[in-house]
Amino acid sequence: MKIVVIGGSGLIGSKLVHKLGEHGHDAIAASPDSGVNTLTGEGLDEVLDGAAVVVDVSNAPAWEDAAVMEFFTTATGNLLAAEAASGVAHHVALSVVGTERLTASGYFRAKLAQESLIAESSMPYSIVRATQFYEFMKRIAGDATDGNVVRLPPALIQPMAADDVAGAVGRVAVGAPLNGMVEVAGPEQFRLDELIRGVLAKSDDPREVVTDPQARYFGINPAERALLPGAGAQLAETRFGDWLEQQLATA
Ligand SMILES: NC(=O)c1ccc[n+]([C@@H]2O[C@H](COP(=O)([O-])OP(=O)(O)OC[C@H]3O[C@@H](n4cnc5c(N)ncnc54)[C@H](OP(=O)(O)O)[C@@H]3O)[C@@H](O)[C@H]2O)c1
Repeated sequence: MKIVVIGGSGLIGSKLVHKLGEHGHDAIAASPDSGVNTLTGEGLDEVLDGAAVVVDVSNAPAWEDAAVMEFFTTATGNLLAAEAASGVAHHVALSVVGTERLTASGYFRAKLAQESLIAESSMPYSIVRATQFYEFMKRIAGDATDGNVVRLPPALIQPMAADDVAGAVGRVAVGAPLNGMVEVAGPEQFRLDELIRGVLAKSDDPREVVTDPQARYFGINPAERALLPGAGAQLAETRFGDWLEQQLATA
């Protein structure tokens, strides 16, 4: 089966292309680097020729409110139109657990707009909502850093390994369209502040994590359970501690 992975050079995309290839699929990594740009439409008709499934795991290069909204709406619109014209049978997109609870952030308003465009289109579709990737923890710390201090709220978080995200997206991509949404999450819950404190300590990072219920997470102050999946979420296997040990051992 020809499966085009938009954002196939990214963190999730590259793992997904590899996994689909291992299962015998003709997985094509598509991104501006390989001449496919969903924002401008460049290269789309060519790469979609003969494709059965398109998986969109792209991400916006800039996260300011207007730029990220422009990215997810224009790119998704271009992609859905090109898929319909080339006879693609299934559109799969990766989104974020809790998106509708996080719309004080322009990023999440843009992800919600992306989801709505997909759901309202004529394409058979599946949306996979994942929790935060383990690989994203350093960026969370970076965004919350001021000098030597990392200020974070004690919100609950149930993150997962990027490898498990790619596995979950791949299984959905080769199945029948859900015409709906599925949630995937990690096996354990943490407090955001405690988790980042542990990661920095293990990495010999000298920054101090200060617990602050009013602190921002990418510009918003999430409610205690806003980042958690619902009861029906599929839970991945890789535990955070095991993942971190492996990362530190291979660093
Ligand atoms: N971070 C998290 O914890 C988290 C949690 C849940 C869901 N998600 C979602 O997961 C998705 C993937 O995230 P990621 O971290 O794997 O992304 P990433 O590593 O930043 O990769 C982004 C990909 O998008 C491609 N791209 C950028 N502009 C493009 C364009 N105009 N046309 C086509 N492709 C374009 C990039 O291509 P080039 O390499 O050629 O620039 C790259 O392949 C995002 O949609 C995000 O919302 C993230």
